[in-house]
Amino acid sequence: MSRRKTTILDIKNAKTENRKLVMVTAYDYPFGLMADEAGVDIALVGDSLGMVVMGLESTVEVTMEDMIHHIKAVVRGCKGPMVIGDMPFMSYNISIEQAVTNAGRLIKEGGCDAVKLEGGVDFADTVGRIVRAGIPVQGHIGLTPQTATSLGGFKMQGKDADAARAIIEDAKALEAAGVFSIIIEAVPAPLGKLAAESVSVPVIGIGAGPDVDGQVLVTHDMVGLFDRFTPKFVKQYAKIRPTIIEAIRAYGEDVKSGTFPAAEHSFSMPEETLAILKAR
Ligand code: KIV
Repeated sequence: MSRRKTTILDIKNAKTENRKLVMVTAYDYPFGLMADEAGVDIALVGDSLGMVVMGLESTVEVTMEDMIHHIKAVVRGCKGPMVIGDMPFMSYNISIEQAVTNAGRLIKEGGCDAVKLEGGVDFADTVGRIVRAGIPVQGHIGLTPQTATSLGGFKMQGKDADAARAIIEDAKALEAAGVFSIIIEAVPAPLGKLAAESVSVPVIGIGAGPDVDGQVLVTHDMVGLFDRFTPKFVKQYAKIRPTIIEAIRAYGEDVKSGTFPAAEHSFSMPEETLAILKAR
């Protein structure tokens, strides 16, 4: 059964209605379909695809073309959830004009409903201009993977009072710039709660504790499909990697032993046709 498309208003209203938002990543058509069928509010085509789908070391190398390619596939599968396209590193960092142009490309060429970009106070002007161009923006603060090196690696952020206060200021600056929601990543749970309380838009956490307005996880981590590393804040709901490896291995054994394909996997030919064929 198809459901109504989640709107920006639905996402904003979730906070006042005290309804927790459910967000996952998706990078292709089958995962778009599954996220839709599972009934999530938001599917994020995250630049985490660089690591979990493309096998890169970080998100830094992901390009606009990579993002558009994957967004298109997810959009084909995701009819109910809002689809958000991540703006890759250096697609919005050079100038505001460049940021607006590239946000527009994700919407026009990719077909997603909104864009996400990393950064707080420093990117508030950029966010404001994209929003004024008519493109909904989701912010991303705390641990920002594209610039993790300058943050000291993939570490929890907002440890001391000054750093924590700066993250709350980031949230407020993004709200003032017009974002419809904010991702907050890898911060102490009490800071997640304070950040969520300090703005009127939903704050969606990943490694930010339970007292935020919703949660997001990288699907490939959550279902045990990617095992290069699993962050502390991930809960694994399935382990599908060994199941897939076992299936491929069993197929290989069947091919080698000749038990696959069996009669039910083969096309037959009428005896008369075969006889004529052989007589020639
Ligand atoms: O790229 C991504 O998947 C993300 C999530 C971790 C929020 O930004």
